[in-house]
Amino acid sequence: MTSASPAEIETLFRRLLGAARELYEASPELCDFVAWPNDLVYVAPQPRPIPALPQIRAMAPDGGVQAALAAVVDHADWVQTYSAAEVGRHFLDHYGYIELFGPTGIFTSSQCRAFIGYWGQGLHYPRHDHQAEEAYLVLGGRGLFEADGKAPVELGPGGVRIHAPFQSHAMKMRDAPLLALCLWRGPGMADRAHIR
Ligand SMILES: [Fe+2]
Repeated sequence: MTSASPAEIETLFRRLLGAARELYEASPELCDFVAWPNDLVYVAPQPRPIPALPQIRAMAPDGGVQAALAAVVDHADWVQTYSAAEVGRHFLDHYGYIELFGPTGIFTSSQCRAFIGYWGQGLHYPRHDHQAEEAYLVLGGRGLFEADGKAPVELGPGGVRIHAPFQSHAMKMRDAPLLALCLWRGPGMADRAHIR
């Protein structure tokens, strides 16, 4: 843990928000999916580490959003939606996300929600669903995206995948980990996903 001041930590999170926004604005599919929120208020997170932090740091080779994320990993309140009973200990050792903005985000918003999530190499994220509509943007690494009614597709950086309300979906990370920005909009935005 560094000894950064609260103001320095806020600056780091604002850099991450700015880097995420740049990628969002470069993606017509994301811009069509939801407007960037205009009600964001920073709420200093209580740091909450997860076992995968060294893996996430290791994905920050060359600036941009991954480097901005690496700069805040020790200060963020990392979340794991699922229990070990649902997904197993191995999954929890190689997975986690931050709520960048949203109802309980590092920046609060009642308009939409954004996560940055990490899934380790070789991980299988089993089928799950949620009411909120969802758009994934791959930030780093790659993964195979599966969803009911859609052909599977392997996506790397810049790849976008959209899920409809309650559309069951899964991800398989094969020879690389996956880092993704995930946007939620609409009814159910404050809920959690459920493994089915
Ligand atoms: Fe999802």
